[in-house]
Amino acid sequence: MSRIAVIGTGYVGLTTGACFAHIGHEVICADIDTDKVARLQRGEIPILEAGLDNLVKEGLEDGRLQFVVGAAAAVENCEFAYLCVPTPQGDDGSADLSYIEAAAREIGPLLPSEAIVINKSTVPVGSTRVVERALGRDDIAVVSNPEFLREGSAIHDFLNPDRIVIGAEDQAAAVKVSSLYIGITAPVIVTDPASAETIKYAANAFLATKISFINAVAAVCEAVGADIKDVALGMGYDSRIGHEFLKPGPGWGGSCFPKDTRAMVHIAETAGYDFHLLRGVVEVNDEQLRRVTAKIVAAAGGSVDGKRIAVWGLTFKARTDDLRESPSLSIISQLLALGAIVRGYDPSGPGPIDGVEVVDDPFVAVEGAAVLAVLTEWDEFRWLDIDKVASLVAAKEVVDARNLLDRTAFIRRGFNYYGIGRR
Ligand SMILES: NC(=O)c1ccc[n+]([C@@H]2O[C@H](COP(=O)([O-])OP(=O)(O)OC[C@H]3O[C@@H](n4cnc5c(N)ncnc54)[C@H](O)[C@@H]3O)[C@@H](O)[C@H]2O)c1
Repeated sequence: MSRIAVIGTGYVGLTTGACFAHIGHEVICADIDTDKVARLQRGEIPILEAGLDNLVKEGLEDGRLQFVVGAAAAVENCEFAYLCVPTPQGDDGSADLSYIEAAAREIGPLLPSEAIVINKSTVPVGSTRVVERALGRDDIAVVSNPEFLREGSAIHDFLNPDRIVIGAEDQAAAVKVSSLYIGITAPVIVTDPASAETIKYAANAFLATKISFINAVAAVCEAVGADIKDVALGMGYDSRIGHEFLKPGPGWGGSCFPKDTRAMVHIAETAGYDFHLLRGVVEVNDEQLRRVTAKIVAAAGGSVDGKRIAVWGLTFKARTDDLRESPSLSIISQLLALGAIVRGYDPSGPGPIDGVEVVDDPFVAVEGAAVLAVLTEWDEFRWLDIDKVASLVAAKEVVDARNLLDRTAFIRRGFNYYGIGRR
């Protein structure tokens, strides 16, 4: 069993820390957010992530998981230090490495010799060098070990990964990092740091491409009178294509795809390659948000000015409380700019959102609405009482940007139903 420090307790850091403690390591998680650390010390989980509460409770009770303020307090006795801090989008689209550098500068003088520092944050090619420089130590190996978890199933994904990717110049360090994943059965790809970093960006870019592709095909379906549900099904049975990520929607969002696709375009550009395919993927996504807004405006009779629009779903996807870069919020801001009055409901119970009346009941959200727009694929929306919805809305117009609802049931109650790419 090893002593691991985890720097940053967001979606990735907290999952990493709780899971490493669960499989037997001694883990100290650090964050600069003192409130967050105080809550975690009491076993309160600041994010919505299935199973995380139990793992944190287990780790705290067994004494294998601790939470401290500041990276310095976590690393004194560690053998491994995982960097899980943000890498947000910089002004020019590149990844902003300032959090990574600050964390590395802080821990550099304090790390025991022979410790290994690991980048789990998503970082561009060359970042292991950046971290080495910031650490200022030549006895410390820096290894890339990108994370592929999905919010909403983060614990499951960490403990049952499709693969573990380790990028290192120092093969002995790579082997030590792979040995941390005790009892986790997955292919381990040991490669150089540049390839590991590229794997993470290329994987996210490809997934975003799949979604933009199916959204574009959905637009073709609407134009030619085909139905995307059948088209996607027919494509997905081809084992070279698969069914995953072939669902049309309001566009991709979240804390990763938007910044990682733009960072990949920037990485390629800096290296002298114009990744115009990926630029197109980003453009299609921006266009998809506008297409969904236009559907809502059309359903409202050509204008949303002064009209109530009900929105079910505010998070960027279901089973998370993450609102970062949520397509729902982008569409809402377009509607607000057109004069709409927006009332929103989300099962994750989000806090206040600028310009939106957030309510805690899906039926209150639809009262007096000119259009009901479904923008996140929360399963519970499928089971809500349609008669009750019909009795509360001002007009029976529904835009289902996730093709989630029972279309026939809504039409039977007199609704005009507009999906994505449906006939
Ligand atoms: N969220 C995901 O689904 C996901 C999946 C794979 C990879 N990633 C990548 O992992 C990284 C982290 O993402 P996230 O979603 O967990 O971010 P997050 O914003 O949820 O969490 C980051 C945490 O780091 C803390 N922090 C910042 N500077 C610090 C410092 N110097 N010392 C200690 N703590 C510090 C912040 O307070 C915050 O709590 C990013 O590079 C992201 O691209 C995210």
